[in-house]
Formats: sequence, C-alpha cells, structure tokens
Amino acid sequence: MSKNFYITTPIYYPSAKPHMGHAYSSIVSDFFARFKRNDGYSVQFLTGTDEHGLKIQRTAEKNNMKPQDFCDQISKTFENLSKTLNLSNTDFIRTTEQRHIKSVQHLWKILEDQNQIYMSKYEGWYSVSDEAFYQPDEIESKENKHFVISSGSPVEWVEEESFFFKLSEWEKPLLKFYDENPKFILPEGRRNEVISFVKNGLKDLSVSRKTFSWGIKIPSNNDHIIYVWLDALTNYLSALNYPNTKDELYKNFWPADVHIIGKDILRFHAIYWPAFLMAAKLPLPKRVYGHGWILSGDEKMSKSKGNILDPLEIIDVYGLDTLRYYLLKEVSFGNDGNISQEKLESCINSDLANNYGNLCQRVLAFCEKNCGSKIPTNDFINDDLEILKNFENLAYLRDLIDNQNINDYMKFIIDMLFSSNKYFNDQEPWKKKNDKNRLNTIVYTALDLIRKISILLNPVIPDTTLKVLKIFDINDDKLKFEDIDNHKFLESGKNIGKLNILFKKIEND
Ligand code: MSP
Repeated sequence: MSKNFYITTPIYYPSAKPHMGHAYSSIVSDFFARFKRNDGYSVQFLTGTDEHGLKIQRTAEKNNMKPQDFCDQISKTFENLSKTLNLSNTDFIRTTEQRHIKSVQHLWKILEDQNQIYMSKYEGWYSVSDEAFYQPDEIESKENKHFVISSGSPVEWVEEESFFFKLSEWEKPLLKFYDENPKFILPEGRRNEVISFVKNGLKDLSVSRKTFSWGIKIPSNNDHIIYVWLDALTNYLSALNYPNTKDELYKNFWPADVHIIGKDILRFHAIYWPAFLMAAKLPLPKRVYGHGWILSGDEKMSKSKGNILDPLEIIDVYGLDTLRYYLLKEVSFGNDGNISQEKLESCINSDLANNYGNLCQRVLAFCEKNCGSKIPTNDFINDDLEILKNFENLAYLRDLIDNQNINDYMKFIIDMLFSSNKYFNDQEPWKKKNDKNRLNTIVYTALDLIRKISILLNPVIPDTTLKVLKIFDINDDKLKFEDIDNHKFLESGKNIGKLNILFKKIEND
C-alpha cells in the first residue's frame, strides 16, 4: 500500500481578506494532513489563491489597482493566515505563477488534441461572484434584477464568442464512474445531488472568455482567456509539477486522495473536474468531500450583509487551538455550523480546561508529589488494562479518518477523556500510599492515557498537545499514531518535564 497522501484545500479568491469560511476549509484539511503524517504517511498538503477572472479584475479596478498588484497584496494575507492557523501545508500555490500557467496551457492543448474543444457562441447567464454559467431554470427575477436561486448571487447576460468543452459527452462516463466509486463524493447527500444533476443532462461548457483579459491566454488564440474554473482546478496538478508526469511529486501524489471543498463548489469539483481529467486521459482524484458552511447566526457570511466572522479576532480573544477544537468538534462535518461566543466558551470550560487540562494537571501534580516527577513503575491489573485496551483498535480510528468521520473521531477522544478522569477518581491513588506498587501503576497508567489522548488530539490542537508530549520527551518528529497501542511506551525512571496551565477557564459574571 502506498504511504503517500495528497490533500488539498480549495484555492481562495483573493478578492477580500480571508474569513472564517476559508479558515474552516483550511483547518479541516490540516487536521487530516496532520493525522496522516502522524500515521507515517508522506503528506503533500496544498493550499493557495485563485487569482484570475472577472471577479478579481473588477475588485482590483474598484480599488484602483492593477490586478497583479491587488492579488499580490491580498494573497499575502491568505499566506499569513495559513501561518496564523498553524497549517502544515507543504506548498502554497498562486494561479498567477508560471508553473501553473504552463500547466493550464498544457492541459488546454491536450483537450484540443483530444478534440474536446470547439468554437461557438455563448448566450446565457453568468454570475461574476460565483464565476459560473447558469441555466435559465436556475435563475429567478426580482424587481427586474436576476439572481441565482441556489446562491442568491446576481447574474448578468453574456453574449460572446467562446470555446466550448464537450461536457455533454461525459454524462454517461461520469455516471458510470460515480456508480463504480460510491465514495468518490462524500457525504452521501451531496453525491445524490450531483448524480441527479448529471442525470438531468449536461450541456457543453463555455471554457473561454473574450471580453476581459485577466486570465491565462489560450495558446492557439490569444484573443481568449481560459475560463477561471478550468484554470483554477488545474492548480491541483500544477503543484505536482504537471505536465512533467515523470516528476517524483506527480508520480507519488497524483491522483489526489481528497479534495476538501465547501458545498458551494461541488459542481465544479465533482462534475467538471473529473470530466476534464477523463477527457485528458488523466487519473481522477479519489475523493471530493463537500463540507457545509460556517454560518454567521443563521446566514451565510457575506460582505453585503456585513456579518463576516474574522478568524483573527476569535484567535486573538480565545487562542488558535480553541478555535481549531471548536470547529472540528462542534460543527457536524458535512453540515452547516455556526460559531457563538457561548458555545466557544463552553468548549473551553468543559472540554479543554475541565476535561483535558484537568486530567493533565491533577495527574502531574500527584506524580510530582508522590513519584518525584519520574515515570513510575507499572504492574498492570485488570482495571488498568481495561481502560488501556480502548486504544488498541487502530484500524477503527484509521477508518474514521479515511471516511472523513471527524465527529466520531472527536467523540472517541472525549469519551476517553471522561473515562480517564473517571479511572483516576475511581482508583483513588491518594488512598494507596501504603501500597507503592499499586500507586505507581495507577500513576503510570494515567500518564500513559495522557500520552495516548495527546497523540490523538495532536491533529486537532497541535500546539497544546506538543507542550504536553514534550514533558515525556516526545517532540514532533517522535510523535507516532501507531504508538498509542503500546501500553509500555513510557520508560520507568525517566524524568517528566514541567507543564504550565493549558487552558484558563472563562469566568463570566
Ligand atoms: N476560488 C474558488 C475555489 C477554487 S478551487 C479550485 C472559490 N473560492 S472562495 O474563496 O470563494 O471560497 C473557497 C472555499 O471557502 C469554499 O469552497 C468553502 O470551502 C470555503 N468557504 C467560503 N465561505 C464559506 C463559509 N461561509 N463557510 C464554510 N466555508 C466556506 O470558491
């Protein structure tokens, strides 16, 4: 089995500064990337910015800037956000980079060579904010203005000469592919949406624009630029040095294991992208996972509604690991979720401070007093083995991750935190001062539970767990998922480092 893993976030439009929705896609992807890395995989984790198209051109014009200068400025804020979110991305791609332009133009040429592209005229609706063409039945009119029913975005009428991709030819092959690969699109509800859309019939897709210039030129016709989605989707290949298919990165990491995206861009990833790839005779990604939206109150965030949640503000007040924990635990992955101050504070108080923080503090304080801050000896009895054996089913946990089942993974951790605190209470080591052997074993077991849980929590709250694991001399390089089923990992007699308070409880008057 290949031990390589390739995961991507959507590449973000640098039309405004990043918001919580962007942070969400990135944090979720980082969670998977970190788990896989801890599980011994060589991980390629890509994020970046999607810089071409009319939306960016118009926004730059509004700001009296050249599109390239505008993108340079905003793309930097996305790159900075990746650092602030502690993403472990291995690359950050910008679609204005030469490596990408070369790759898109190559793919275009292949599609032309395969007789998949023809010239005609596009007449229809276009939404600049979605950068998408829509059919008449997807549009509604209000007060003489026209909007997309699903996204609410305004549309404009477009009539221009355009190159088309023969998408209609791929209707049957796509349906066959979805059928043979039932987990290509997850969660299942989204897969059903896509299948019924394709079954309704696919029309050929306009893949070039002529009336503006901010994009990648078509090699054989410089009057046209390539449609921004054909441009953007190809980023997943460009970052692996496509078109050099002999390159190690391409050989090791294509096809991608999973594209993490929001449900708003499912059609592009689950229909257009596999169709382009099939037409170019390239392998298809293994999975597209469409997550829900992070709502502000009950509504989608938007500039016009003025309800944008700024991840930086939340991180400033509550800290990064709190935000990461919240998004991974509180949002049911695949569905919409929201952020409220009340729920954030309850996460800190009940889960992070009371459950994880408290387990670490009380066990370490007891160990310092009674075992001289050294790893004690162990002589397990049934009570200890019973709780430890919960961590032996690695296949179960791996399977949760491979099915993007974040919520059951988090549930497992929280159950284990409760059970571990309960174990320490029930065993009452403070009453075993006359039975040093038993006292030592209880402390050893509790320390090992802290180690195991910290390894599982590492992809969720990397900073905090590394502080905890450091007391056992386990740093990032030594941290291995597979070590959680080894109940004798900790070496008796070794010193244990010091640990400061991990999470302060929030007291509201
Ligand atoms: N540039 C395209 C993606 C190209 S991928 C080849 C794009 N960019 S975007 O900046 O508008 O949004 C990218 C992603 O951000 C969405 O798919 C989604 O993953 C995330 N989100 C944007 N708003 C969101 C929420 N309110 N909630 C959760 N995620 C959302 O589309």
